[in-house]
Amino acid sequence: MAQIFKNLKIRYILKSLRVRFFIIVFATGLISCLVMHAVILDSYEDRAVNVRSTEVQTQLKILANHLIAYNYLQDTSSEVINAELDMLANLYDGRVMVINDDLKVVKDTYNISQGKIIISEEVVNCLKTGQRGAVSKFDKNNGYIEMITPIIESQLIQEKDVSDVGDTGVVVRGVLLTSVSTDTIETTLDILGRRATTLEVIIVTVILVFAAWVANILLKPFNRITAAINDVKAGYTDQPVSGPNYYETEQILNAFNALLKRMKVLDDSRQEFVSNVSHELKTPITSMKVIADSLLAQEEVPNELYRDFMNDISHEIDREDKIINDLLVLVKMDKKASGLIVTNVDVVNLTESVLKRLRPIAMQRNIDLTLESKRAVTAEIDEVKISLVIMNLVENAIKYNNDNGWVRVTIDADHQYFYIEVKDSGVGIPEDCFDHIYERFYRVDKSRSREVGGTGLGLSIARSAVIMHRGSIDLKSKPGEGTTFTIKIPLICAGNKKQQ
Ligand SMILES: Nc1ncnc2c1ncn2[C@@H]1O[C@H](COP(=O)(O)OP(=O)(O)OP(=O)(O)O)[C@@H](O)[C@H]1O
Ligand SMILES: [Mg+2]
Repeated sequence: MAQIFKNLKIRYILKSLRVRFFIIVFATGLISCLVMHAVILDSYEDRAVNVRSTEVQTQLKILANHLIAYNYLQDTSSEVINAELDMLANLYDGRVMVINDDLKVVKDTYNISQGKIIISEEVVNCLKTGQRGAVSKFDKNNGYIEMITPIIESQLIQEKDVSDVGDTGVVVRGVLLTSVSTDTIETTLDILGRRATTLEVIIVTVILVFAAWVANILLKPFNRITAAINDVKAGYTDQPVSGPNYYETEQILNAFNALLKRMKVLDDSRQEFVSNVSHELKTPITSMKVIADSLLAQEEVPNELYRDFMNDISHEIDREDKIINDLLVLVKMDKKASGLIVTNVDVVNLTESVLKRLRPIAMQRNIDLTLESKRAVTAEIDEVKISLVIMNLVENAIKYNNDNGWVRVTIDADHQYFYIEVKDSGVGIPEDCFDHIYERFYRVDKSRSREVGGTGLGLSIARSAVIMHRGSIDLKSKPGEGTTFTIKIPLICAGNKKQQ
């Protein structure tokens, strides 16, 4: 149990958008804080070292001039210069060495290296190229700045910037090698670092709280959506889900609401279908019951009346049988998986055989039924289903026609589709019924349809069969003038099919 709980928790942490969001906000805050810390302290150190070196260099340049003026390189007894050197060394907590052009240390404020020869690359370079000015080097590990300042003999040059002047008339007499401690800088840096760390801890805590808060606030709409969808699922409501949301969550809600609407439409149509079916099935039974009751109510009924009533009952049974058969056909078509049984069919022949069966009915009302084929058409179709389509369309054209009218069936094809057009001179269909004409049990004129024995399933069956073939059915009609149904079906069947 504990293990399952633990697994669930880990899964939640790994997959939760809230946790990811929190981590992103927190990490961004933390990283920027740390980068700022490092950059600010680093640049402070650079700046402090630069200021210190420039300051000391200025003093050293002045001192170098004094050294020349007092001829100190030859005679180090000058009290003034010695005092100046000591003062400088004390002031910056450093060491100053005066080196002459023979690389000999003539004065060391630490009094250690006096009289020794210094062979250092920097010193030699400075003696050679001293005109280019002083050099500073910061040794971070040992905490000091080393400065090498040329002692240049030439009044003229010292007044100007040394680097701007050419070689002529410039003599480097010696070098000042100075080390200045950066302890004070390091101490300040330490204090600053400690303060920054304290501040950082506070900022990071604030970011932590902020990230948790933001993650919670920003993802709240998702909780609301889940709750609302759960409400719908539980059946508490079927109202569209709404709420103040972001664009993204609105998209989810819109999609969900559209799905809800579609489900409602499907549910409504299913309910309507069931109630229609019950009603349609009940009608013949009620008629039979009325006929039977009236027979039973009478005594000594004459034989002819019995026959008459029995005829009516048989008629109602036929009607019931037709409705049930049509419904079964429809249900079969709805099951997409059932597929098509496709064969190569001569469409003209097929239509001819359907018309042959319907001709007697047409003749009864003196309706002229003709077939015109513009070319020979062979197509990959389900023979039974397409003959159902033709049968229903032509049957309607006869049923909803006037006596002595006509029905013209035309077959045509192009390289991709074949077309069957069923045109009649009948009563026509009003335009506002076009959208409903394929609905189950829909009849334009209920009483007329009842008269001719229609249940409103024929076109629904025809359309399902056409759609299964990936075709389309089209309707043009004018009340009083006639109707034209055209079906368009691919010559080669693609997709869901069972080849025979
Ligand atoms: N050619 C047509 N001319 C005029 N009205 C038509 C035509 N075809 C169909 N209709 C109208 O459309 C309705 C639906 O037709 P459909 O074929 O689906 O049902 P039905 O003919 O009433 O019954 P069923 O075909 O199931 O026996 C018909 O009731 C009729 O009002
Ligand atoms: Mg019909």
